[in-house]
Amino acid sequence: MIDIENMSNKTLLKEQYKNTNNLKLRKSLHEKYSVNKIGLQRWMFDQYPFHPKCKILELGSGRGELWDYYLENEKLQGYEMDITLSDFSDGMVEHLQKSELGSKMSIQKIDILDIPFEDDTFDLIIANSMLYHVRDIDLALSEVKRVLKKGGEFYCSTSGIHGMIQYLYHALDELNISYNKESTISFTLQNGTELLKKQFSKVERRDYEDALAIDMVEDYVDYIYSMASLQGLDRKNYDLFLNYFNSKKVDGYLHIPKEYGMFVAGKE
Ligand SMILES: C[S@@+](CC[C@H](N)C(=O)[O-])C[C@H]1O[C@@H](n2cnc3c(N)ncnc32)[C@H](O)[C@@H]1O
Repeated sequence: MIDIENMSNKTLLKEQYKNTNNLKLRKSLHEKYSVNKIGLQRWMFDQYPFHPKCKILELGSGRGELWDYYLENEKLQGYEMDITLSDFSDGMVEHLQKSELGSKMSIQKIDILDIPFEDDTFDLIIANSMLYHVRDIDLALSEVKRVLKKGGEFYCSTSGIHGMIQYLYHALDELNISYNKESTISFTLQNGTELLKKQFSKVERRDYEDALAIDMVEDYVDYIYSMASLQGLDRKNYDLFLNYFNSKKVDGYLHIPKEYGMFVAGKE
């Protein structure tokens, strides 16, 4: 078991994202049990303002699954867009380099707190489900603003404070199980506008309506064990979780709320 007491927040994050396994497991839960069948990544991808010479940077790309929709879109592939995918994890960067995306895009190891590009470089910057991991959010957002061109846009997605994480924390509290919750709520749908407005003149919030309806509770318990903030949870609690969540089923399903969306921030 990982000794979270003796690991810094950054080391813990790097451990969580050292390879793609945890992300893959979490994605499959959403695919299998989400009520909204459009899919979050598709919903986000369809809103990006691509144009033929668009210069794009994605931060915290993870497995790069957003770009599946690029690979299946011949029109977009015909554009001369200059796309850089990045992550601060060696494992993610290696995965991206070996994937089909590696031959079509530039892949780089980048920490959002120190972006190695000149001022005013990109038309579009994307950061999905990663800002809530960042400790110095003001520094991260000022770096994004610095490398964004005037007239460019920053698209970032995150969760709200009434969604899956809070549902889980409530369950852990009821079960009297201790956990590390500090790193998961630094950038949310609720505080995102205020944080972004310190840097960007125009900020708009767009919500994605969804929830989970789960019949196989084992899948949800595996998901719990894959969470960054919960690494170190004892495997001996597995059956306790199973019994608890099975007891919460209504009409054969465990219903879990989701609160997710994104912000579009513009630089003038
Ligand atoms: C929850 S995953 C999201 C992956 C992908 N954007 C998605 O939406 O599926 C968070 C990713 O952010 C990366 N990350 C966390 N902190 C970062 C930082 N300071 N700079 C760059 N990447 C970071 C992690 O390595 C991980 O791949």
